[in-house]
Amino acid sequence: MDKIILTGDRPTGRLHVGHYVGSLRQRVALQNYGEYRRTMIMIADAQALTDNFDNPEKVRQNVIEVALDYLSVGLDPERSILFVQSQIPELTELTFFYSNLVTVARLQRNPTVKNEIKLRNFEADIPVGFFTYPISQAADITAFKATTVPVGEDQLPMIEQTREIVRRFNSVYAPVLVEPEALIPKEEACKRLPGTDGKAKMSKSLGNCIYLSDTADEVAARIQTMYTDPEHLKVSDPGHLEGNTVFTYLDAFCRPEHFSRYLPEYENLQALKDHYTRGGLGDMKVKKFLTAVMQEELEPIRKRRAEYEKDIPAVYDILKRGSEKAREIAAETLHEVKDAMRINYFDDRELIRSQAKKYSDRG
Ligand code: TRP
Repeated sequence: MDKIILTGDRPTGRLHVGHYVGSLRQRVALQNYGEYRRTMIMIADAQALTDNFDNPEKVRQNVIEVALDYLSVGLDPERSILFVQSQIPELTELTFFYSNLVTVARLQRNPTVKNEIKLRNFEADIPVGFFTYPISQAADITAFKATTVPVGEDQLPMIEQTREIVRRFNSVYAPVLVEPEALIPKEEACKRLPGTDGKAKMSKSLGNCIYLSDTADEVAARIQTMYTDPEHLKVSDPGHLEGNTVFTYLDAFCRPEHFSRYLPEYENLQALKDHYTRGGLGDMKVKKFLTAVMQEELEPIRKRRAEYEKDIPAVYDILKRGSEKAREIAAETLHEVKDAMRINYFDDRELIRSQAKKYSDRG
């Protein structure tokens, strides 16, 4: 197979279970079982700086956190290339060339950018770097000729914008770049895992996240206070599933074998849901089950993290080696891009010869 995966995350905080079911879990599966020639996972520190330029220390501190999260979920440096965006200067060059192929109006229409501008109160005064980050994201993807980009649903407009840039480049210059496809999770609950308070977005400031690096006690405590159905007051009351965070998390995490292990009186998740809607099933019992399910998934992640935390210099070394490899690949693409754009003067013997001839003919 000639498929290549590239994806990444901004290092602005530790990764949480939303990242896990939305993309990380799938990346590990693709790395291990998929028929891909290459898996590239990038810590997008340069992109993180587009809206944290005044807080470089935050980005700097979180590079290692994200690296530890990657390694702890099972991304394997022997099988995947883990690297740091800012260490690949070729990406910046590509961004500059691609920016000729994108209009301001098109960037303004990008729904993700629109949304983020609102979120950050950038309406009046948008930094150019932030405004143009979709172009840099196109460089990230195309530099490695990625065919497949596993991301959360919010990133779809970025992939679409990348595809447009690729088509434009290939038609204006030469067919050098590869049009990528997004890969998003099928399960609704995984596309957009809510915070533990039921709010749509998990965020550090709302204190509604479960982090991959949380201790078993922290995870259990978060689930204890998880938002359920406010009208489900007595165990005997019929309960509602819609907007019920505990059931959304079960949709994302629960597998059939969990029932025989932790809740054998139910055959499957549907049977549990049926009982809850009928009435007679208490929130506490469901929460206890969810806790068991999530601890089973998170325990090996915590263990692996603890191992890597013992040797932080080795983790930086993994990133350094990955970045060196990534640079080699990006340099090859940049070379082809420059050829296609006719800015390869010194490698082009034919150009030098024909110019020389032009001037000698004149003389
Ligand atoms: N925009 C992504 C995020 O916010 C991070 C990212 C940067 C990325 N470059 C990428 C994702 C290239 C996929 C492909 O999480």
